Amino acid sequence: MEALAINGGKPVRDLSQKPWPSWPVFGEEERRNLLEVFESGKWFFGEKVKEFEERFAAFQQAKYGVSCNSGTTALEMALYACRIGAGDEVIIPAYTFMATASAVVRANAVPVFADIDLETCNLDPGEAERKLSERTRAIIPVHIAGLPADMDGFRDLAQKYNLKIIEDACHSWGSRWRGKGTGALGDCGVFSFQMSKNITSGEGGLLVTDKEEIAETARSFSNCGREETAQWYQHFRFGTNIRMTEFQAAILLAQLSRLEEQTRHREATARVLDEGLRNIPGIKTVPRDGRVTRRAYHLYVFRFIEEDWKISRDRFLELLKAEGIPASAGYSPLYRNLAFHRFTDNGFPCALTCPRSGRKAQYENVFCPAAEKASQQTVWLPHWLLLAPEEEMEDVVCAVKKIRAAF
Ligand SMILES: Cc1ncc(COP(=O)(O)O)c(C=O)c1O
Repeated sequence: MEALAINGGKPVRDLSQKPWPSWPVFGEEERRNLLEVFESGKWFFGEKVKEFEERFAAFQQAKYGVSCNSGTTALEMALYACRIGAGDEVIIPAYTFMATASAVVRANAVPVFADIDLETCNLDPGEAERKLSERTRAIIPVHIAGLPADMDGFRDLAQKYNLKIIEDACHSWGSRWRGKGTGALGDCGVFSFQMSKNITSGEGGLLVTDKEEIAETARSFSNCGREETAQWYQHFRFGTNIRMTEFQAAILLAQLSRLEEQTRHREATARVLDEGLRNIPGIKTVPRDGRVTRRAYHLYVFRFIEEDWKISRDRFLELLKAEGIPASAGYSPLYRNLAFHRFTDNGFPCALTCPRSGRKAQYENVFCPAAEKASQQTVWLPHWLLLAPEEEMEDVVCAVKKIRAAF
């Protein structure tokens, strides 16, 4: 049996000889666009931002795009534009990034956790339905890792109970459900262009929608409550300033020109990983769903079943790393974060503690079994690994098989 790299054996992939692709990918086009903006002296929200908004909205097949400075503020903008506020409840998945919840709290509404489907790690519409109350106004499905959530199910719920659907599409640039782009499937959807994302300007965000009213309200919110045709010092709402700069848009336009090709490449390499990993005992890959007609891979996710391996998932991650495969454990159930248990320490968020909202939000007894399992079982591979040539995916498969053989 081959010695494991952690015990002094030869790693499957020697990163000093054969590094994985680096991220971000950038080049002459970014440099040219940036210089153009720099030399023009027009650095404030203008032509490049507008061009990027239009091009990105078209990329997601949405009518309107409204930019801002992060995925987090895009969520706040979406909630505002959907008129979610004090006293409202919003259903969110238990397995997601903190921003999905904190944006709801900052809108003075109450996040209510619902469980995920363990196979996809996405919010389960049936579980969301079980958490509805007379105060529920919206659901935020998150397309985790770029895999679209079950949008048929969420659209049915929206119709049946008159709810808004805000897609957290912060992992799903380019993903399609039954041929239509994520973000444009519900009332609106939001994207992140933060550094780790598949298209990035360091920070940045954008809302897409097919609904003119949502687009206009979102724009006004992002721009100090202004309206497009009114005078500069006329304000119609209590908005904020989260405008994107021309520098960010200059970079994003260049990044967008590569996104289609990179998305296809990641789909092809992910397919190779699916084929190679699928039949390894104790490894569960994400099942394919014919309704997902294209998907971004922000992460390649598989599950590691400890009972089948007799080692912990975290030990497996250490062994994988030693073999030259960068992998991480991913999210813990979000409701376990101290923010949900120590209201007195974090600025008394009004929505969760104010007697006027009718009751005090309680998270002590929240328990979502599938999210708990996912947090123990998931293995995340980063999207930039998928940019390596198809044949190099064999290194990942070999490393997993090598570790398996050692146990
Ligand atoms: C699912 C999800 N939603 C929202 C965000 C927030 O995006 P940003 O970091 O641009 O604020 C992230 C960022 O990682 C995310 O992963």
